[in-house]
Amino acid sequence: MRPARIVVTAGPTRERVDPVRFLSNYSTGTFGYAIAAEACRRGHKVFLVSGPTFIQAPSGVRRIMVESALEMRRAVMRFARKADCIIMAAAISDWRPERVSAHKMKRLKASTALRLIANPDILQELGRKNLGATLVGFALETRDTLRNARNKLKKKNLDFIIANRTGGTAGAFGDKKTDIALIDRQGNTTRFYRKTKRELAKIIIDKVL
Ligand code: CTP
Repeated sequence: MRPARIVVTAGPTRERVDPVRFLSNYSTGTFGYAIAAEACRRGHKVFLVSGPTFIQAPSGVRRIMVESALEMRRAVMRFARKADCIIMAAAISDWRPERVSAHKMKRLKASTALRLIANPDILQELGRKNLGATLVGFALETRDTLRNARNKLKKKNLDFIIANRTGGTAGAFGDKKTDIALIDRQGNTTRFYRKTKRELAKIIIDKVL
């Protein structure tokens, strides 16, 4: 079997406010990096498009570092055409500041000056393009996890979605054990409990490739 070409996104994005500040989220990149490493271990050709993180690139993986959602979009689109599978594990910021201040914003101005605009939904765009690649999304939710994940699966035209809950006692960030539900296009749902992201990466690669 020829090695598959797999694009994986990981980590948060940073949306610049001014030269010293940004909007972001708690994503560490652990899950996406575990998936990229596992795919690489199995001999596939992996392109890892990563937001800012301190995790080292798994050896053998081609890593492209980006900062913002717009940069991530550009990098993903560049590799998507030739991909057999695209796994979007990155926590991409839904918004960015409408204007980036060229100078550090002053205390008095900041409280009224931050207006946000929507970032493009990269995964939805990929779903519309019908590229032929297996498309895998993540849904990070704080409530109604399965219902929200199923809606995203349909809306973004995905082959699989991995639903992950955070908040309360459920942790999704970092390298803690976590629970997921893996849902396929037909709605078949398999749940996995208290697994490390490395264990889950194996399960996900087995299922989607
Ligand atoms: N995603 C994306 N582009 C964005 C936002 C999200 O490609 N601008 C991808 C994520 O990488 C993930 C999936 O879409 O695979 C779902 O992301 P999530 O943040 O859970 O959902 P949203 O579509 O942003 O919906 P909402 O914020 O309403 O929950």
